[in-house]
Amino acid sequence: MKKGIYFLLLLCMFTSPGYILAKEVTHGYNLVPLPNKLTPRKGTFELTDKTLVIVSDAPSVKTISDALISRIQKVTGISLKYADKEKSFHYPAIIFSQQRGYAKEAYKLMVSPKNITIEASEPNGFFYAVQTLYQLMPTDIYANKFVSRKRWDISAVEIEDAPRFAYRGLMLDVCRHYAPIEYVYKFIDMLALHKMNVFHWHLTEDQGWRIEIKKYPKLTEVGSKRPETLEGYYYENYPLVFDGVEHKGYYTQEQIREVVAYAASKYITVIPEIEMPGHALAAIASYPQLSCTPDSTYKVATSWGVFEQVYCPKEETFKFLENVLDEVMDLFPSQYIHIGGDECPKTAWKNSKYCQNLINQLGLKDDSIPSTVDGRKHSKEEKLQSYFITRIEKYLNSKGRNIIGWDEILEGGLAPNATVMSWRGVEGGLNAAKAGHNAIMTPGAYVYLDHYQENPEFAPTTIGGYTTLKRTYGYNPVPDDANELVQEHVIGLQGNVWTEYMQNNDRRDYQAFPRAVAIAETAWTLNKNKDWSSFCARMKGDFKRMDAMHVKACRNFFEVNINTHVEGEELKVFLETYYPEGEIRYTINGNEPTVNSAKYTQPFALNGNIDLRAAVFYGKKRVGRISSKKLYGNLITGKAYTVTPHVGWMSGDVFGENDVLGADSTTLGLTNGKRGYNASYTPWVNFNMNKKCHEVTFIVDLGHSQSISKVVLGSLFNPAYLVLPSSGIIVEKSNDGVDFKHVAQQSFHRQLPKNGRKAYTDSIAFTSTKARYVKLIIKNGGTLRRGVDFRKDLSDEEFTQANLYLDEVEIY
Ligand code: ACM
Repeated sequence: MKKGIYFLLLLCMFTSPGYILAKEVTHGYNLVPLPNKLTPRKGTFELTDKTLVIVSDAPSVKTISDALISRIQKVTGISLKYADKEKSFHYPAIIFSQQRGYAKEAYKLMVSPKNITIEASEPNGFFYAVQTLYQLMPTDIYANKFVSRKRWDISAVEIEDAPRFAYRGLMLDVCRHYAPIEYVYKFIDMLALHKMNVFHWHLTEDQGWRIEIKKYPKLTEVGSKRPETLEGYYYENYPLVFDGVEHKGYYTQEQIREVVAYAASKYITVIPEIEMPGHALAAIASYPQLSCTPDSTYKVATSWGVFEQVYCPKEETFKFLENVLDEVMDLFPSQYIHIGGDECPKTAWKNSKYCQNLINQLGLKDDSIPSTVDGRKHSKEEKLQSYFITRIEKYLNSKGRNIIGWDEILEGGLAPNATVMSWRGVEGGLNAAKAGHNAIMTPGAYVYLDHYQENPEFAPTTIGGYTTLKRTYGYNPVPDDANELVQEHVIGLQGNVWTEYMQNNDRRDYQAFPRAVAIAETAWTLNKNKDWSSFCARMKGDFKRMDAMHVKACRNFFEVNINTHVEGEELKVFLETYYPEGEIRYTINGNEPTVNSAKYTQPFALNGNIDLRAAVFYGKKRVGRISSKKLYGNLITGKAYTVTPHVGWMSGDVFGENDVLGADSTTLGLTNGKRGYNASYTPWVNFNMNKKCHEVTFIVDLGHSQSISKVVLGSLFNPAYLVLPSSGIIVEKSNDGVDFKHVAQQSFHRQLPKNGRKAYTDSIAFTSTKARYVKLIIKNGGTLRRGVDFRKDLSDEEFTQANLYLDEVEIY
């Protein structure tokens, strides 16, 4: 610990009421998640062969102390010995002291130079205390083999700790890409390290059935294999491009039992997810009789998305699912079984005579008034889904289990005892809680770990989105002003690792970490104690732990995020790093930044076009990779504009918050100094075209009359996603914003590729002229053919107008 900080700690100890909020004293301890009460103490406890372990008689507590002794022996070579209580007065000792009065997961840990005492009531509390103890030791303790060190010290401290939420989870999808069993163990280790207590194992999907079911061997013989998988991004190409390589894998029941037991030894419950009634293609490919059209042949899905073939609610299907669930319950002792329930198209049920008869028999009707739970009117097919889920719930309840389902299970009526996992936002969870159901929050915009977390221009392909570590950390599942039902029924938080774009362990690591650690802290630490800069300070230590455990976390933490925002009248460049105490050094001429380059101290105005390179330095050392971004400063940079038609789902403002202009929610996406690129949709501003609208009209006020002589425009080629680059532009000018005069026009002729995504930058130069207002009429790229250029389900029209994705608009 640095001397200055230590002095501050001591000062605080003597001036504050008995203890200090942990967030003020985290630098020396690096504990993640942050304990809820921490009092720093002086000195260290040194582990030696003389250190004794004193433990109560409870076998489950002894198992925890055995594991501690065994890790210490393996990594440090030090042999700790059990002894009776009296000896603790004479020798340094680690004392496990079982006491009444602690909550199930709560513990107290006191480390002094003489002794270590752990108090808890339940083994869970002892387990978490030991996790904290490891975090107080040199990071090498996380190694998997002997490490030679002179001393093994544990920082003195006093901690009283308990989690904020009872449910602290992380989900791993092993269906889109099978994860080797070793990875599952590593994932569980990472959960335990961060005091999470639920591993949600997503085991069945359209793309693969991964759990051995003895009664239905075809589920794994057929359903766990697909002959190939998709290459590149889902909407990049039409027809889709495949790798031609078989993808397969499943877990035997024996392997599953071992995983469940291993997780239990770390106080982690494994909740299996058996998806129904949708995302069931692998099962239907194995047993077509489970579908509404049993004479069809089905294949395990080789691409991503939502598929129309779903389980048919026949007696045969229910019998099958009950038999499957019987084996599942035998393997997983968890109170909850996750039954999916999300993204189940109703087409097959609408077209099925059997389903329509069943709907009639059950007396299901389309709603005429909105539901009191979610305020929406539901169709009779949605009510059939509710019948399906309720029936499965009844079966599981009869075996003493409860169901969790994704928030779609609210549609058409919630099964009576169900817990809702809220993923499409927070509304589903809040509505369920207000209706008296338990809810687990897992909203996509914060805790979907398949989203981008760093600049997509340079990041590996993901499903989309943009959720930085900071954004994930900022999520609070139960705001202070939440109503009582929400406070009571939101039982926790979960991060989700969906693996469409995670083909191997490194990619899984990269997407999950470090954001999963931020989720762990939100789930454990009281909101009033959470603090972003304290988290970053402690994460320096946690990255070392992840390194020791060979976790290939995303390293954006050590790098610079480059952004632009309007401040006052100017567009400014903002540089940010999460690395504490790091200095940002940058250049604007494309040169590599060094320790002698300009130091970033505050946002600076974007003047002209720059090739920005920035990196973080600690002392003289660069700590991460160099971030680079070309930025385009011109006459309209950072200026408000109007556009017709309205901006669609992408507004081109990836970091958001600062750039919203007003009532029409138009952002500065087109004038934020950043051009779009091939790698993702995130930076683009999209405009949907239709039969009547083939162009975008863009009007900007230059503020005063200025000379203009060139317009530069970026547009995207991506026919598979209904997007073509602009075919031409008309430039007009005005002094009053009402009467516009023609200045110039140009058609863009280009040799387009057959497929894929490509960003085009076009320009039109003209004789210099004075203008206050500039209008650009930007023509779309023409028509696209259904089933030839793009997938049939993307449009009902045989010929459709190509949408325009624009970024950036520049005027010089
Ligand atoms: C989900 O992401 N479809 C639950």
